[in-house]
Amino acid sequence: MANQRAKLVVGNWKLHGRLADNRVLLQAVSSGADDLPDDVRVGVCVPCPYLAQAQTLLESGRVAWGVQDISAYTHGAYTGEVAAEMAAEFGASFAIVGHSERRAYHCESADLVAIKAERALEAGLTPIVCVGETLEEREAGKTEQIVGGQLDAVLARLSVESAARIVVAYEPVWAIGTGKSATAQQAQDVHAFLRARLAAKGDDVADVSLLYGGSVKPENAEELFSQPDIDGGLIGGASLKDKDFLAICGAAVAATAAR
Ligand code: PGA
Repeated sequence: MANQRAKLVVGNWKLHGRLADNRVLLQAVSSGADDLPDDVRVGVCVPCPYLAQAQTLLESGRVAWGVQDISAYTHGAYTGEVAAEMAAEFGASFAIVGHSERRAYHCESADLVAIKAERALEAGLTPIVCVGETLEEREAGKTEQIVGGQLDAVLARLSVESAARIVVAYEPVWAIGTGKSATAQQAQDVHAFLRARLAAKGDDVADVSLLYGGSVKPENAEELFSQPDIDGGLIGGASLKDKDFLAICGAAVAATAAR
């Protein structure tokens, strides 16, 4: 039977945005999202300085907002860090943790990502835990070993109750920003593997939202989102264009209607 989980589409703006451009984009996304059915949820993860702007422009609508990383610490002498509770004070719902760009450029280990996921949950945020393999790892047949290890580090740290509150995003590193998405079948295969891993932690954990990320576009979104274990997407480049992002949200609606 097709799954009944609500679809979730989250934008990851990365290091993009300026106040004036954000206003136009957020207003367009917010008003476009008003027409979406309730079982498709939408969020945008903005750079931290724009949290207040996102809160002001989005709080009367149905688009949630969040951050792209959070500190493993709650407070203290950690220059440059932003705590989960700080983001929560601005109404954030989501914190991406363990994005491959953080793992690669900021040397974030699987254990650090697990701590960040725990900090997010403590502050009432939903951590979007990213996992994904490089092209070399895929070609060496190590995809399951890599993504399984990344997920296990997080699951090992959390209680069943907490683990049931996370979101997981499978983002193959070779598909991010390259225009070369995984095929729907490649993505589904990894999602089914991750779903089984989640289910092994506990019955409630089996139903966490599993997003796909990596060159999702209006043209490929519906096929991806129609897969039985793909519950939506984490959208980079296409989340910076209101029409593309809303078209991807529309694909989530179509995938839901078709099941
Ligand atoms: P992309 O990025 O959609 O630009 O490939 C996805 C991500 O990194 O979250």
